[in-house]
Amino acid sequence: MAAPSAARSLLLCVMVAAFLHLQLQIPPMAAAAASPNKTDGRDDGRGKTLSLTLYQHETINKTGYIVVDGVAGAGVSQTTTPFGTIYVFRDNLTVSADVASPVAGVAEGSSITTSLDGLQSLSLAKITLHGHRGHRGSVSVLGGTYNTAPSDYPVLGGTGDFAYALGYVRSSPVDLRGRTVTYKMELHLYWPPYAHYAPLHQSKFSTTASSAATMMAVKSEVFTVYQHDRLNETGYVVAAGDEGAPSSDTTRPFGTIYVFRDELTLRSNSDSPVAGVVEGTSTTTSFDGLRNLLAARISLHYRGYRGSVSVLGGSHNTKPSVYPVVGGTGDFLYTEGYVRSSPVDSDGPRVMHRLDIHLYWPPYTKFAPGP
Ligand SMILES: *[C@@H]1O[C@H](CO)[C@@H](O)[C@H](O)[C@H]1NC(C)=O
Ligand SMILES: *[C@@H]1O[C@H](CO)[C@@H](O)[C@H](O)[C@H]1NC(C)=O
Ligand SMILES: *[C@@H]1O[C@H](CO)[C@@H](O)[C@H](O)[C@H]1NC(C)=O
Ligand SMILES: *[C@@H]1O[C@H](CO)[C@@H](O)[C@H](O)[C@H]1NC(C)=O
Repeated sequence: MAAPSAARSLLLCVMVAAFLHLQLQIPPMAAAAASPNKTDGRDDGRGKTLSLTLYQHETINKTGYIVVDGVAGAGVSQTTTPFGTIYVFRDNLTVSADVASPVAGVAEGSSITTSLDGLQSLSLAKITLHGHRGHRGSVSVLGGTYNTAPSDYPVLGGTGDFAYALGYVRSSPVDLRGRTVTYKMELHLYWPPYAHYAPLHQSKFSTTASSAATMMAVKSEVFTVYQHDRLNETGYVVAAGDEGAPSSDTTRPFGTIYVFRDELTLRSNSDSPVAGVVEGTSTTTSFDGLRNLLAARISLHYRGYRGSVSVLGGSHNTKPSVYPVVGGTGDFLYTEGYVRSSPVDSDGPRVMHRLDIHLYWPPYTKFAPGP
């Protein structure tokens, strides 16, 4: 009994030592690759951290609208909405609590009331910074909001400077009186050491990243497929907004909720072999009717791989967009990465997007349990 278990422990020790050895080689390279901004956090092989504070201002019927009425419980008040209410918002983020202070970014998404007292909701959002303190990119969050107390949302993924970010966003009420309510929004982000080696959609660091990725023998793959969406056949408007842009071939009113199940083919011809399906919901979150918050599952059976990835992020109806992969199943369990979606044909009820799905398996996946 004792011998095999001792042998196993020894093997485990060797494996752990090998892994630690590999990890210990990383810090100097990571430092060279990213030239971390010392004032912004540390990057000493334990990863990099960044904290930012912004202020979110929300005005009912101006920056946020109820698009689906709730059905039970509390009524509509400054801080409550009936159970099941779907609220869609696009709120500016400013650098101080003063609504007139400089705008640093935007928070867009939706909240679904999930308590009968009308105080709690499930929120899906994308928080975008336009260069605040030199940071440009977005983080996607999904979590619970308590309207009158601080709430923490986990960060599921990011794009741009926030690619592969983890962490949380804390939202705390500052002023709930009056028509415009203000919340303090603190972003607490963390990049694990491997984030430096993951493939990026910006050219920055990519040479170092790919050679380091090869060195660490982590896996990455790119899958290209074509998404075919046909209005009233594979996708439907289930809740119509009525603010901002009208309904057209390329725009939808603010707050419109669209639900789809679209085939993914190997080539742009819709008769080419099917490699999977993308299903989900897209909510219009801009008043020009062109931008959406997308929550979807992409299932693939392609090049011997089978599984799904979940995505949550921003999409654009007529321009290329990038949204993060926030999880996976099957052969894509533990993957991270991003999807670049480029419209090929977007001027009609039949829309085609090319999806380049960039997936990355972080080094720890070797040790993580499978299904
Ligand atoms: C917002 O608009 C709706 C629909 O027009 C209206 O019923 C509601 O009273 C408005 N709410 C506020 C706070 O202005
Ligand atoms: C939000 O910020 C943008 C850009 O600074 C500005 O044009 C817009 O008017 C602001 N929206 C509100 C509701 O203040
Ligand atoms: C480093 O961070 C500081 C403070 O946030 C900022 O002013 C500066 O531009 C940053 N430098 C670089 C090289 O990103
Ligand atoms: C889709 O269905 C809606 C509602 O029935 C209708 O108003 C719209 O014209 C239809 N659009 C197309 C392109 O079929």
